[in-house]
Amino acid sequence: MQILGIDVGGTGIKGAIVETLNGELASERLRIETPSAATPEAISIAIQELVEQIHWTGPIGVGFPAAIQHGVARTAANIAPSFIGLPVADYFSAQTGCPVHVANDADVAGLAEMRFGAGKDAIGVVLIVTIGTGLGTALFSGGHLLPNTELGHIFLDNGLEAEHYASDAVRVAKKLKWKEWGNRLNHYLITMEKLFWPDLIVLGGGASKKLYKFAPRITTQTPVVPARFLNQAGIVGAALFAEEQLGRAGAGAHAAIC
Ligand code: BGC
Repeated sequence: MQILGIDVGGTGIKGAIVETLNGELASERLRIETPSAATPEAISIAIQELVEQIHWTGPIGVGFPAAIQHGVARTAANIAPSFIGLPVADYFSAQTGCPVHVANDADVAGLAEMRFGAGKDAIGVVLIVTIGTGLGTALFSGGHLLPNTELGHIFLDNGLEAEHYASDAVRVAKKLKWKEWGNRLNHYLITMEKLFWPDLIVLGGGASKKLYKFAPRITTQTPVVPARFLNQAGIVGAALFAEEQLGRAGAGAHAAIC
C-alpha cells in the first residue's frame, strides 16, 4: 500500500510517498521550511502545500513533535502553545481533505526502525532517540511501543533539561564541536541507560548521519547504532502508522481516498 508520510520538524516539513510493504520511498522527498510562527494554521497550510506539490489524494500519516494522545496534541515544546489540546489529526484532515493520522515524530521513526531498520532483529528493550531541534524518544519492549515517552525533557544531574543540553539545535546554537557535543549526548545516553537498561539504542534525526564524528565519545555499555533510515525514519514511520490505523478502522478504510 502507498501512503504519504510527512515528518513535521523544527526547521523543515518533509514528505514522500512510502511503499508500506518494504518502507521504501515511492516518490522523491520534498521539503518545505517550517513556518517560524509554527501555529496550527501555518503548519497545516504548509502540509497542504506539500500534499499539493506531491499531487496526493490518499491517506496521510504525520509524525508530529508533540505528545499525541488519540490524535490530540498534549505538549508543545518547539511549536506554538495553541497546539495543546488541539485534535491535530482532525485539523489536518479538514485542511487537506485527506484522512490524516498523527502520532509523535519519534514514535513513528521508531516504528520504521523496528519494522525495517536498525531495530528489526533486536530483542528486549530498544530506545530510539531522534536528535534534531528537540530530543525525541521512542521506547519499545518486545517490539511493543510505549507511546509518548517524552524522555528528552528529563532533567539531568547537572540540573539541565536534556533537550536544552544535548539536542542538535543546542550544538548549532552554541557552535559546539562534534566531540564536545558528543560528550553531552553521552551524558544523556548514560542517564537513559541507568534508568531503562535498554538492549539497543538507535540514534535518528539529522545528527545520526554524523555518528562517526562523535561515536568515540559514547561510552554506554549498550550498543548505539544509527537509524537505518537516518533522518527519513520519520517519513517512513508516519506512513506505517497511518497504515496501522487504517487497518484498525477495518478493511473498508483501505479504499478511502479524498
Ligand atoms: C517534543 C517531542 C518530540 C521531540 C522531537 C520534543 O521537544 O516534546 O514530542 O518527539 O521534541 O521532535
